Amino acid sequence: MNFKEEIDRRRTFAIVSHPDAGKTTLTEKLLLFGGAIRVAGAVKSNKIKKGATSDFMEIERQRGISVATSVMGFEYNGAKINILDTPGHQDFAEDTYRTLTAVDSVIVVIDAAKGVEAQTRKLMQVCRMRKTPVIVFINKLDREGKDPFELLDEVENELDIKVRPLSWPVGMGDRLRGVYNLYDRKLNVFTGEDKQVAEEPLQVDVEDPEIDNYIGTDNADQLREDIELIDGVYQPFENDTYLNAEVSPVFFGSALYNFGVKELLSCFIDIAPSPLPIQAEERSVDAYEENFSGFVFKIHANMDPNHRNRLAFVKVCSGKFERNTNYLHVRLGKKMKFSSPTAFMAEKKEIIDVAYPGDIVGLHDSGNFKIGDTLTVNEELHFKGLPNFSPEMFKYIENNDPMKSKQLAKGVDQLMDEGVAQLFTVNMNGRKIIGTVGALQFEVIEYRLLHEYGAKCRWERVNFYKAAWFKSENREQIDDFKKRKYKQVATDKHGNDVYLAESVFDLDRAKDKFPDIRFHFTNEF
Ligand code: G4P
Repeated sequence: MNFKEEIDRRRTFAIVSHPDAGKTTLTEKLLLFGGAIRVAGAVKSNKIKKGATSDFMEIERQRGISVATSVMGFEYNGAKINILDTPGHQDFAEDTYRTLTAVDSVIVVIDAAKGVEAQTRKLMQVCRMRKTPVIVFINKLDREGKDPFELLDEVENELDIKVRPLSWPVGMGDRLRGVYNLYDRKLNVFTGEDKQVAEEPLQVDVEDPEIDNYIGTDNADQLREDIELIDGVYQPFENDTYLNAEVSPVFFGSALYNFGVKELLSCFIDIAPSPLPIQAEERSVDAYEENFSGFVFKIHANMDPNHRNRLAFVKVCSGKFERNTNYLHVRLGKKMKFSSPTAFMAEKKEIIDVAYPGDIVGLHDSGNFKIGDTLTVNEELHFKGLPNFSPEMFKYIENNDPMKSKQLAKGVDQLMDEGVAQLFTVNMNGRKIIGTVGALQFEVIEYRLLHEYGAKCRWERVNFYKAAWFKSENREQIDDFKKRKYKQVATDKHGNDVYLAESVFDLDRAKDKFPDIRFHFTNEF
């Protein structure tokens, strides 16, 4: 296979959902189709078990599991599929956001009974911002859920996207008889067996009068009526509108019963993008370029404190990555080569000699990498689109052991490089504030500082609502703003100005009073 064909056949994506919607189950079924695993239950759910949500040891345990499921690669019908796992629990949300910067498309899983939930809404914001093509999978049809038309409206309104159903359910819950595939105009009959293996679904044409024998006359009439309505209301599906992130195709099914999953996968391989060009500050980098380039989007610390080596996850953006070849670490201005780069297949890691755009390579690292770092053959490139998002919880971090202040500083520095949380330094007094997306992260930081760096920290309450990065060409207004709001002005780890807003109202007032200043909830705009 030549270089171009290798790139063309790659599909790198993430499955995102609110916890419990069925992401793990769907992932597993996709792996079953790919023959990457043989029995269901092989992919350990990396979500925190119910009832243990405040147990940070559980997070440590999960960190172990999540290395294994970080990237799941497999082959299916000639395509090379890379599924990037997005940690399910709320407290990992920032890590999840960043994973979305390394994918070319996304499948959103929605529970048919619960509809659009909080975390799905947040994750979709990132997809919209990045114009990532999205496919929606409405799951758990084997249970009673909301009306399908209602669900489509909800998805459109709540997620602010346009949809186009590509499959349609016949009944739901106990009345589920099948899913009509609008993509190839066939009905898949639901047999209700919990399928562990990939089987060809039983298919009948909707115009075929025999269909009544499978789903009953009433259902068949209803289906024909629904299809007419769908075709009347929704524009015909066009691949370009999906690739441009204007319209999201929607599939219905039941991951648990392995129903509607194969249609999803087949259509996904047909329509989902192969590696797209990626924007660097200097220029747009095309996957098909000859020279290798890639960026670090995730760093995984070793759980054993005696071996502080880490695993950096690099997304190959262009060219061919090769083992034992010198590459430029752009930020450090230093050439490095890697003797044991790993690729991730479903259940195992293996050392690889080459990787292509779309692939994720794991590099062992003794502290050289930060999130967002770029590797190239020799060009100075800085990839954009790895923003920090505003945290939602803030606490002052204080040193609790004066003898260990160096260790604390180093620990905080490294944990921030890993992307565990964000650090803000208040301009007025130099006090340090840690911002996270979830409350558990504070416990994790405290625990890891102690066990990995021998440092003790203490938290102090501070009441902020969000961090807003701000900028303006109007120097005078910036100076005035910083003077008046000096208690709330801080600097992030990269030296950018940040306003720590106390409330929505506080931020709105600032916007009114200082109209030339632009406030943003990410540090890249
Ligand atoms: P998540 O990764 O999005 O958090 O969800 P996960 O796949 O772990 O699924 C959450 C629960 O929903 C699981 O049940 C799972 O079996 C169930 N589920 C997933 N897909 C379907 C579906 O299509 N139909 C039905 N009826 N249930 C589905 P659980 O009882 O929480 O866990 P388990 O003991 O079954 O693993």
